[in-house]
Amino acid sequence: MTARPRVVVTRRLPAAVEERLSREFEAKLNRDDRPLEAAGLQQALRESDAVLCTVTDRLNAEVLSAEPLKARILSNFGVGFNHIDLAAAKSRGLVVTNTPEVLTEDTADDAIMLMLMVARRGGEGERHVRAGAWTGWRPTHMLGTKVSGKTLGLVGMGRIARAVARRAHGGFGMQVIFHDPVAPPPNVVSELGASPRGTLDDVFREADFVSLHCPATPETRHLVDARRLKLMKQGAFLINTARGDVVDEAALIAALADGTIAGAGLDVYEREPKVSPELLGLENVVLLPHLGSATRETREAMGYRALENLTAFFSGAQPRDRVV
Ligand code: 8YV
Repeated sequence: MTARPRVVVTRRLPAAVEERLSREFEAKLNRDDRPLEAAGLQQALRESDAVLCTVTDRLNAEVLSAEPLKARILSNFGVGFNHIDLAAAKSRGLVVTNTPEVLTEDTADDAIMLMLMVARRGGEGERHVRAGAWTGWRPTHMLGTKVSGKTLGLVGMGRIARAVARRAHGGFGMQVIFHDPVAPPPNVVSELGASPRGTLDDVFREADFVSLHCPATPETRHLVDARRLKLMKQGAFLINTARGDVVDEAALIAALADGTIAGAGLDVYEREPKVSPELLGLENVVLLPHLGSATRETREAMGYRALENLTAFFSGAQPRDRVV
């Protein structure tokens, strides 16, 4: 019997996924769930055939220069892979895979949750009740902003943006506008009741809610900067379930503090897991700890998808979700 491939799993995964990984591979699990630092990641690259990694593993060129390199594949648990230097991985002959599709609906739910929470002052209201500050119902208490019927501007029109558009248009009767440099098929756009805009700036100018659904790349870094925030309507809100790097966090803090925009709902941050202390003091921002895909069902599905990419690779087939 040939030896099973050795897989280093960098974080704890749902129990059912870990069990299957242990059955099908010689899996080294991370029982303490402490993120591996650069040295630990390099050790994993030296001692394993595969690394099953997550967003908390910074697999940059330096880390990927580990010698002697034994690993042949990085199976990422997650759809986003901006924490992996793809050029460096490729130059080292490493295959990289991700887990698209399985987290689309949950991430869209997260964006809608943030939109409702920030517009209807859900976070603020919850803090108010827990603090024992609520003195009772009154017609003018904690008035928020109506969501139904408003204009939602999507930055990007990929899988997750489309799922957000479906919810917003079908559930809340919102007008959906978007900009994506790669135009989605016209039938998809019309089914969603969405209409394209020629530039991102148009989306920022027109939308009551701007929701980010683009990958983090050098081109999209600080795509939301002070200039674009100023284009937004004063009563508008920014929602980010994509990646922190897409937003200039300092510019956003200034815009939230001086009323350039009405509020923001954030699931991701520029220096995750560090959250700028200024954000903590603002009432008009809802802050979630990167919960986009955080349901039991989806985290299991992500785990199985990452596992299946490994199985395909080691059986000599093309993994379904190969990125490079
Ligand atoms: C994951 C995400 O939890 O998949 C992504 O891109 O942002 C999250 O849903 C995270 O990436 C896990 O590695």
